[in-house]
Amino acid sequence: MPRPPVVARTLPALRRALDDLRRRNATVALVPTMGALHDGHLSLVRLAKRRATRVVVSVFVNPTQFAPHEDFGSYPRTWKADMAKLATENVDLIWNPDVKTMYPEGFATRIGVEGPAVAGLEDRFRPHFFGGVATVVGKLFLQVRPDVAVFGSKDFQQLRVVTRMAADLDTGVKVIGAPTIRERDGLAMSSRNVYLTPEQRAVAPTLYRAMKETAKLLKAGKSAEAALAVGAKLITEAGFALDYLEARHADTLAPVRSIKDGPIRLLVAAKLGNTRLIDNVAV
Ligand code: PAF
Repeated sequence: MPRPPVVARTLPALRRALDDLRRRNATVALVPTMGALHDGHLSLVRLAKRRATRVVVSVFVNPTQFAPHEDFGSYPRTWKADMAKLATENVDLIWNPDVKTMYPEGFATRIGVEGPAVAGLEDRFRPHFFGGVATVVGKLFLQVRPDVAVFGSKDFQQLRVVTRMAADLDTGVKVIGAPTIRERDGLAMSSRNVYLTPEQRAVAPTLYRAMKETAKLLKAGKSAEAALAVGAKLITEAGFALDYLEARHADTLAPVRSIKDGPIRLLVAAKLGNTRLIDNVAV
């Protein structure tokens, strides 16, 4: 039987647990999550274990990164299953604050983000999102004071935003991006995949296939405009409502015209019914 990890729900309990963990010069890795854990999250935990002697996983569905019309209320909450998975991974500590602990009465401070946060990708469709992410991740970094923090690459713009924020605010936290974990048919693992109907689930891998096709055309020397037009057609013909399919510089997120402007990252967001999926691939 795996040993259940320590769970802290208040700041004093977190501090006590962290003091305990830090004895004997331990290094600490933080894996921030919103729960509803899948194999993608567990791959982050495994990477964290290779980078530090102790692993803390935060489980907090952060209201400030959801707009009022989005799925904060219905976001999957699977605490018991999450606990069992984290116990199997031998996680040391779970930080599971409630909303009042993170945002007490009178809370009035937010981290403002620019640069990669205003690249015209997710921010065009979810203008509230990166401010909310940066604020909660900034708080998590201050609360846990980890040596490293591991984020998935599926939210590629988010990874760029938190990397920038960690450096700009001199947090001393090394942000590590972990590869996207995919289902066998190529669909990127996501807590929101549970929203898909069986019919939508069958169509969903088209997103990855279309990005691979677009990447192939870019590598063969086609212009970004021509390659993206082919990818966008594949996606819309499969029944998605496309928010964007873009070719950007992998570091700066600036638009690119061809493979010569690389390294390129292809980024996509599209809706199947009410479910919005995002994904990206390196070219
Ligand atoms: O990627 C996520 O799950 C969330 O945006 C994060 C980083 C845990 C912040 O709430």
